[in-house]
Amino acid sequence: MNILILGAGGREHTFAWKIKQSSHCSQLFTAPGNAGTALCGENINVSVTDFDAVKEICLSRKIDMVVVGPEDPLVMGIYDYFKEDESLKNIILIGPSAAAAQLEGSKAFSKHFMQRHNIPTASYAEFTDANFEEGLQYLQQHSQPIVLKADGLAAGKGVVICETVAEAQKVFTSMIKERQFGEASAKVVIEEFLQGIEVSVFVLTDGKDYKIIGHAKDYKRIGVGDTGLNTGGMGCVSPVPFVNDVFMNKVEKTIIAPTIKGIHEEKLDYKGFVFFGLINVNNEPFVIEYNCRMGDPETEVVLPKLKNDFVELLKAVDKGGLQTCTIETDERACCTVMAVSGGYPGNYKKDIKITGLENVKKENDILIFHAGTKQNNGDILTNGGRVLAVSSFGKNIKEAVDKSTEVLNEISFEGMYFRKDIGYEF
Ligand code: AMP
Ligand code: GLY
Repeated sequence: MNILILGAGGREHTFAWKIKQSSHCSQLFTAPGNAGTALCGENINVSVTDFDAVKEICLSRKIDMVVVGPEDPLVMGIYDYFKEDESLKNIILIGPSAAAAQLEGSKAFSKHFMQRHNIPTASYAEFTDANFEEGLQYLQQHSQPIVLKADGLAAGKGVVICETVAEAQKVFTSMIKERQFGEASAKVVIEEFLQGIEVSVFVLTDGKDYKIIGHAKDYKRIGVGDTGLNTGGMGCVSPVPFVNDVFMNKVEKTIIAPTIKGIHEEKLDYKGFVFFGLINVNNEPFVIEYNCRMGDPETEVVLPKLKNDFVELLKAVDKGGLQTCTIETDERACCTVMAVSGGYPGNYKKDIKITGLENVKKENDILIFHAGTKQNNGDILTNGGRVLAVSSFGKNIKEAVDKSTEVLNEISFEGMYFRKDIGYEF
């Protein structure tokens, strides 16, 4: 099969690395890709939201399967674009329809969905300009802290946790009246704050059956000990020690099974990944959010641990037969540590030369995934905030993290920073 991956991050390099190992893959393309995906196949410089250009690639390269990395094209309807086009409709597209992608694209939609299907989540209310004053009053009665969420996609920045009513009213006003997150904050969801530890669980579904393919804990804050600004993710560990059989059974019974059943009952077309962002509150799992894609950098630990032929699983998602697949995972711990540009998640420079990659000894239990990188005349340059994810296996989390740290000590670029304490609490 000729396969096209859409995206340009560490997640997509990991997809490319894994797909390349499949006996089903003949030619592999990534659009737009990065310097890492270029090692696995051919990069094509096309934006993931330019559907007409993606169509052109599919026809000219005789693509059989498209694997969509980020949420934007999914929420914008790339699945529907393919299904409605005579020349594209037989291409396998891994991802949900626009209607189903609302599980990520609209916080209000996902909260209604969870309510309809009795799925444990924080209690909430939603407000727009039309009931703005009511919202201010609602905040006055609310327990603290208060969680405010822009309804739509806001590049991972649309959630604000406020310690006081006054602060919450200010943020609420700026979201609705000043459109702090553009049209994404025309509607705001106000939520109860849940206290617990977060974990992400990943599922592949054909819209009826599902398979759990892994789980991971993401370290989102920039600073040591989970301090400072939120980022896209500074590192991940898997497995997470508290995710034992008892906890996972609860997750499956109270969250995953009812979600997939809900998707099926509501006739939502969904052939792809479901990312369950969960929180463990006194050993009871609650949904913080759904995403309609894989996580980044969670993918960098989930896929290395997955032993199955990935393309075979993706084919089963399309053609049926997912229920007969057996998921096999590497029992070892896998961790990833992300090297980021100086200044990230604020402003940072790009186009800085990365050195030392060639010195890293090739070992089976260490994988270097590129995130924001690009090739330039034989050099590899930085091209984003998150630059490289180094994933390692170990007999425990500490050993795996130490290996990734050692590798990152060999690599350098001006301003490079990474957390040395990923997995610190385990
Ligand atoms: P998101 O951008 O949707 O991933 O949310 C960002 C972060 O906000 C989550 O990873 C949680 O740490 C936090 N968060 C969101 N909703 C809640 C909630 N109801 N209670 C506590 N923390 C939350
Ligand atoms: N690492 C969090 C995400 O992919 O949304």
